Parts: sequence; structure tokens; C-alpha cells
Amino acid sequence: MAQASLAQRIENQEARVAVLGLGYVGLPLALAFADKGFPVLGLDVDADRVDQLSSGSSYVDDVDSEALARLLERGTLRFSANFDDLADADAILICVPTPLSKSGDPDISYIVSATREVAQRLTSGQLIILESTTYPGTTNEVVLPRLEEDQRKVGKDFFLAFSPERIDPGNPQFNVLNTAKVVGGVTPECRDLAAALYGAALQQVVPVSSATTAEMVKILENTFRAVNIGLVNEVAMMCDTLNIDVWEVIEAAATKPFGYLPFYPGPGLGGHCIPIDPFYLSWKMRTLDSRARFIELAGEINSGMPEFVVQKVVDGLNDEAKAVRHSKVLLVGVAYKRNVSDVRESPAFDITSGLHERGADLSYHDPHVPTVEFDWGTLESAPLNPETLSGSDCVVIVTDHDDLDLDMILEHAPLVVDTRNSSAGRSSRARIIKL
Ligand SMILES: NC(=O)c1ccc[n+]([C@@H]2O[C@H](COP(=O)([O-])OP(=O)(O)OC[C@H]3O[C@@H](n4cnc5c(N)ncnc54)[C@H](O)[C@@H]3O)[C@@H](O)[C@H]2O)c1
Repeated sequence: MAQASLAQRIENQEARVAVLGLGYVGLPLALAFADKGFPVLGLDVDADRVDQLSSGSSYVDDVDSEALARLLERGTLRFSANFDDLADADAILICVPTPLSKSGDPDISYIVSATREVAQRLTSGQLIILESTTYPGTTNEVVLPRLEEDQRKVGKDFFLAFSPERIDPGNPQFNVLNTAKVVGGVTPECRDLAAALYGAALQQVVPVSSATTAEMVKILENTFRAVNIGLVNEVAMMCDTLNIDVWEVIEAAATKPFGYLPFYPGPGLGGHCIPIDPFYLSWKMRTLDSRARFIELAGEINSGMPEFVVQKVVDGLNDEAKAVRHSKVLLVGVAYKRNVSDVRESPAFDITSGLHERGADLSYHDPHVPTVEFDWGTLESAPLNPETLSGSDCVVIVTDHDDLDLDMILEHAPLVVDTRNSSAGRSSRARIIKL
């Protein structure tokens, strides 16, 4: 009965959708449903974020303020910091953070807290979908028991599913609308309702047999990347020892039309996904007396890359009879990847820490990041011009945003440590040390 009535509301695009957590994942999702005409409530614990969004201004790079304002005006989208507004919702999508704790273990406290808020107000027939990336078992072991309190039964009184978000911030080709959405339900009824909901707003839905399977799908995707990046980072260090250009090796290998997929070395992992998600799985395996050896090895190699970059700076300056202490080192690009403003887990933090400990005089330039709080102090983005470049002893390119003038850097900097393949094919007066 409850299932049929919700299915009907979804089909009629009348189902009221609430999105909990309005960050990089939740905000684009809220807009996607509102754009299809669903009445959408965006809910966040951060009242400042709610105020900013309610005034039509977006803080997420990929969400256009004009589109946001249009949907607010149309009345299909509204924002709130009051959990009591959830009582009206037919479907609640949970998109809260899942970081690691200081000891490197999963911190699912945001999921627990959001679930508690939902459980306190759960009304008959609601569909709850967890989107936050987490270890296999979270939906069944953490979310379900809290929602089943007070004798409620999943699949009858309410519905529960897991659907991993696959958003890639800054990607001009793929977004929430055209990236297939994997959906696993706690029961087949839960899966069918969740699949129907996403199917009404997104281009492709991929149902899988359980919520746990859907959780594992997401971790496999991110582990695949972390392990392949770990492999190519180790190959980069081997090529360094062997005096071979790793970029040339990868480009030539990538001409093979089958059986090879190019991954590229870099200064270390960054962002909210690849450096974190695989450790949710390795933690889960440890609780079962099992190990995730590839994940641990890749983590070890990837987390050593910032120090490898620091060593390149040390060696580069040494060749010019300079000490790191009191040398002027300018970092270019501190966001964790190109064309975004997100600095979460950026390798720039570990690189600057290593250089700061050695006494370097540090500055940075990033057109997308006006200020950064490093462990050792706060800096503002310095201008990038011929004077700042020629006044530096070393420039380290960490993130090569499209709007950075790399030619100017290579023309005026005396020494460049280039962690990206950005100097390929360019003429330069700088001495360039490539990863
Ligand atoms: N950023 C990405 O590229 C990406 C991609 C795929 C999956 N994910 C996953 O999606 C989830 C969310 O990531 P994000 O990048 O959007 O995080 P975010 O930090 O950008 O946003 C999370 C939002 O949730 C809010 N919040 C925290 N606790 C809350 C609560 N109890 N109720 C309501 N709101 C609450 C925060 O105030 C914040 O606005 C994480 O599990 C992440 O791993 C992220």
C-alpha cells in the first residue's frame, strides 16, 4: 500500500524530496530533482550555508547561482536548517560527510547523527537513501537498526536503500545527470522505489542485488583508482632512479588499444574520496581479521609522494648551491585537482609542511583559492607575475589549472619542480625537474 502510493507520487513527479547535507554531492542532486519539477527541500546543519543558498548564491563550483536562483523563484526548491521540515518528505537522501578520524579509522558520526534526526521524525511510507561513501554493511548495520526502532519494519513501514554518489567535481563532461546511478535496496521493494526515484530525474539507473553490494561498488571504484595511482607513482620513482622519463613511458604504453589504462603520477592524493574511501574497506576487513593488502600498500606509496616532491626541491636547490632554509619557494596550485577550489586533503599541505620544517620561505598562488590555513600559518594567494616568479628560488607546480599561465612560469622562474606533465612540449628558460 505504502509502496504503491509512493511509486505513484514518484511517477507523477509529486514526491517531495529532501536532501540532507548540501555539499559537493547534495547540492547538485537537490538541483537535479528540482529541475525535473519535484518539490525539493535542501537541509543542512550549517545555517550560514542555508542562508547563502536561500539568497540564490552557490558555494559549490559546479552549481551555477543563476540556475539555483531560477529554481528558488520557480518554487520547486527551498532550503532549511530545521529537521522538523523532514516530516513532509516522501524521500530523504542523506549526503553527509564520511571523513577519517585522527587515527585513520572511519568517522561515521555524521551518518549516525543524520539517521537519528530522520528516525525521530520518520513518517509512514518514507523512502530513505544513504548516498555517503562508506564501508560495506553500513546501511544494514548502522542505519537500519535506528530506523527500525519503535517496531517499524523496513519494506513495509518505510523503505531504505544505498546509492553511491559518483560526482566528479570540475568534470565538464560527466555530472550527476549523465553518470549512471547504482542502487541497492535493503529489500527488493526498497530497491525498486529508489530506482524509480532516480530514474525520474537521472539518465541511467543500475539496480544491484543489495545495499551492501552498492556500498562495495563505490569502494571498488575508488580503490581501483587508489591502487593504480599507487602503482604508477611507484613506477615514477623507479623511472627517477633509472633516469627514464615516466611521462614518455606512459604515453607510449597508452597507445596499446587494449589491456592498458593510463594512470598518471602526481604529488600525492587529494580530495574527499580517493585518499579516504579505500580505508573504510580496509578498516572493515580488519574488524573481520582480514586484510586489504593492495589498499594498504597503495596508501603507503601515495602518502609518500609529497615527501618525494620535497626531496626534488631540496636536490634542485642543492644543485644550485642553495639551502632550503631561507630559500623562496612558491607553490602553484594548492587545490587537490585542476579547475576546482577544493583543498581538502590536498598534497600541498604535506609538501608545504615538509618545506616549512626545513626553513623555506613559502608562498603560493592559486586563482581558485584566495586563502589557505596551513598547519604552520595562514597564507593568501600571491600574485603570479614575472617579478614574483623571478624573485623565487624554486616554483613547485602542484595543480595545473587551465587558467594558469604555465608559459609565464617556465619563462621567468629560475627552477621549477613540475609534478604534472604540464611542461611537455613547451620551451623554457627555467631548469625543470619533472616527477
Ligand atoms: N566530493 C566528492 O567529489 C564526492 C564524490 C562522491 C561521493 N562523495 C561522498 O559524498 C558524501 C558527502 O561529501 P561532500 O563532498 O558532499 O561533503 P561536503 O563536506 O561538501 O558536504 C557535506 C554537507 O553536509 C552537512 N552536514 C553535516 N552533518 C549533517 C547532518 N547531520 N545533517 C545535515 N547536513 C549535515 C555539512 O554542513 C555540509 O554542508 C561523502 O560521503 C563523500 O565521501 C563525495
